[in-house]
Amino acid sequence: MSVDTATDPYVSIPGFYDLFRAKEGDKALPSVAFFADLAPQGATALELGPGTGRITLAVAERVAEVWCLERSATMRAVLLAKLAERPKLWDKVTVLPGSAPVFKLGRMFDYIYLAGVLEHVPEADRPSLFRAIADHLAPGGIAAMDMVLTMPAPELAERELDEIRLGQCRYVYSAQAQRLGPDLSRLRMTYRTYQGDELIATEVVTRLHNMHRPEPVLTDLAAVGLVPAQGNGLAMASHDPDDPGAVVVRKPRGDT
Ligand SMILES: C[S@@+](CC[C@H](N)C(=O)[O-])C[C@H]1O[C@@H](n2cnc3c(N)ncnc32)[C@H](O)[C@@H]1O
Repeated sequence: MSVDTATDPYVSIPGFYDLFRAKEGDKALPSVAFFADLAPQGATALELGPGTGRITLAVAERVAEVWCLERSATMRAVLLAKLAERPKLWDKVTVLPGSAPVFKLGRMFDYIYLAGVLEHVPEADRPSLFRAIADHLAPGGIAAMDMVLTMPAPELAERELDEIRLGQCRYVYSAQAQRLGPDLSRLRMTYRTYQGDELIATEVVTRLHNMHRPEPVLTDLAAVGLVPAQGNGLAMASHDPDDPGAVVVRKPRGDT
């Protein structure tokens, strides 16, 4: 089965997405702790691209309410299934179908965050995404995003990156990347299921990976009135000490 980015690159893989991150525990990226720790206690939050809700659930424990905008029906379904097991959070979490950068929720939030999402956003859409974030951010509120990268766009021959066993099955994850330009690659992820030595299923996903570098990201954020929350606004959300990974900005009070 092959699914392209034109439809939904996550349609067949939310289980694999969570499984391989569960195996990595606290080291898994995007970092749950990074985004949850930034959530002000008792605040209102908006998550763009919550996926299966790894971070949503941790943020929901801290805030008064969190709204989620997710374009993948499959990822939303998994998030709803997780919420089904947590009735304590039902009043707090609003899960909406929708796709950034074009969204209008008719209200503002104290905290807006995107984890593992910016790579899905074409460079040309970045200014309108940041405009929408600024429009939905309350004065004094903060916005955080990872996938702000200084490394070159990846080029990689297919290689096995991880595997995990559940019962009699072994799931093997491999990835391939083709550089299409200095800041754009096409990724091909393959998930193979083995029962014993027999290959019984292969799921392939292809999608684009857009690079967003710190300088243009901070320039585009400044253009919509969002300023570094601390220092130069760059933050460590990855495990690569040479790559800041994230940006945290604030909407100054009095700027409506
Ligand atoms: C790598 S996953 C990250 C999921 C989650 N934030 C996490 O950290 O585990 C990216 C998610 O963003 C969603 N997504 C990508 N582009 C989006 C967009 N333009 N609007 C809304 N959701 C988007 C995808 O469907 C997917 O669920």
